[in-house]
Amino acid sequence: MNFLVETLRVILLTIYYLLEAFVKLFITLEKKNVAGEIVLITGAGGGIGRLLAIEFATMDVSLVLWDINLEGLKETARAVNEKGATRVYYYQTDCSDRAEVYRVAEQVKQEVGDVTILINNAGIVTGKKFMESSDVLVEKTVRVNTMAHFWTYKAFLPAMTGKNHGHLVCIASSAGLIGVNGLADYCSSKFAAVGFAESVALELIATGKDGIKTTIVCPYFINTGMFNGCITKWPRMLPILEPEYVAKKIMNAILTDQTYLLMPKTVYLLIILKSLVPWKEAVILGMYLGAFNFMDTFKGRQKKKD
Ligand SMILES: NC(=O)c1ccc[n+]([C@@H]2O[C@H](COP(=O)([O-])OP(=O)(O)OC[C@H]3O[C@@H](n4cnc5c(N)ncnc54)[C@H](O)[C@@H]3O)[C@@H](O)[C@H]2O)c1
Repeated sequence: MNFLVETLRVILLTIYYLLEAFVKLFITLEKKNVAGEIVLITGAGGGIGRLLAIEFATMDVSLVLWDINLEGLKETARAVNEKGATRVYYYQTDCSDRAEVYRVAEQVKQEVGDVTILINNAGIVTGKKFMESSDVLVEKTVRVNTMAHFWTYKAFLPAMTGKNHGHLVCIASSAGLIGVNGLADYCSSKFAAVGFAESVALELIATGKDGIKTTIVCPYFINTGMFNGCITKWPRMLPILEPEYVAKKIMNAILTDQTYLLMPKTVYLLIILKSLVPWKEAVILGMYLGAFNFMDTFKGRQKKKD
């Protein structure tokens, strides 16, 4: 009896949620008001982090900006002030260092208050074949792209759960859903970031903390410089994304409590195919889409010469 009732319930809810998702494709969703929130963005000294800060600048939030790059942070602070932000706090922080994350988190709590929107965005890439990547860089990639998320959650989630209010945003990558030739350490770190964010999201639901929203972002290449030199084979199908477009899509996802944001839409299709087609077919598809050669021309960010 229990089986019948539960199965019927899940079938009816499935139909309801599928219809709801379908209808949402055609209507403009209401955006939540974030005025008064304390928004922390890691990796805010450039790229997507800076653009997100600029997006939030007009929304009457307190902005807490973290980055290892102090000059970048100052430039972001200047840009958001110019846009009208009045409560802007920046901290030079190495997110890969657990003790430093905890220390600066305490400082933020004292000086600004409890963070209510946490955006884990800082990221790095080695861009070498796995056996050619140094142990130090492999470890660093995991520490910045994954473990920093653990420590920021540990630091800021208790206050959110205490009030059952907040938003956790994980800027991952499509490389956190599909493996890529030449990106083994990066893919591992992003798969882990996705798995972590997804699991904590479920933990929050299971413990009744439904006031804390979660958003996981998985974009394909973005034209910020991080993947300088990389090529896309079929730009119409898999375009290299413009940073401003990505930042606006992320903002929209946050303000409408969207749980997953994959960009471009082709990525949704690719993860469905990945789970359905035989391995040999997946390999052929990967070759067809250029995934075997994405990294052949990688240059990344060139270090400034002193
Ligand atoms: N650029 C892309 O093609 C692309 C694609 C998919 C996902 N992403 C992800 O989006 C996020 C933003 O990428 P982006 O393109 O803006 O990169 P970016 O290189 O322009 O910016 C990354 C920022 O993180 C900061 N950072 C690096 N190490 C840090 C550390 N240890 N502590 C604190 N800050 C640190 C950098 O100083 C920089 O300001 C990253 O997580 C990246 O992995 C990027």
